Amino acid sequence: PLVMVLNGPNLNLLGSREPHIYGQDTLDDIAARLEDQAQGLGLMVDIRQSNHEGHLVDWLHEAGARGALAVILNAGAFTHTSIAIHDAIKGITVPVIEVHLSNPHAREEFRHVSFVARAAKGSISGFGAASYALALDAAAALRH
Ligand code: DQA
Repeated sequence: PLVMVLNGPNLNLLGSREPHIYGQDTLDDIAARLEDQAQGLGLMVDIRQSNHEGHLVDWLHEAGARGALAVILNAGAFTHTSIAIHDAIKGITVPVIEVHLSNPHAREEFRHVSFVARAAKGSISGFGAASYALALDAAAALRH
């Protein structure tokens, strides 16, 4: 079973980007740990990042076409703005697990709305890089 792990804008800067909020791990560090975890769970992961909204839309469609078990999605700031990503999630039958390193609800008002959450199966936020590991366990639990 395949789990696509899709990361949106500015997440390529993890490690140096506001480390007091997002931690010291780079996206490559997180990806390496997810690969190990996936192996243990008997899952395949396909981990990507883009700063472009349309790439995330295309990749969600691809997850649908590939019949992925789940998508783990950290849409970054597009979480709070993108109806296109919301509609792409609605447009596929693959369950999407929303992930955030920080807890957006404990931050600025403009982060309190999530268009991703309205279309997602569920959300995991606030555990730093561990949010991704928890999401992969949640994806594994969707197997039947
Ligand atoms: C984020 C939270 C978003 O509000 C922010 O725009 C990000 C990162 C997180 O992982 O905590 O880019 O998605």
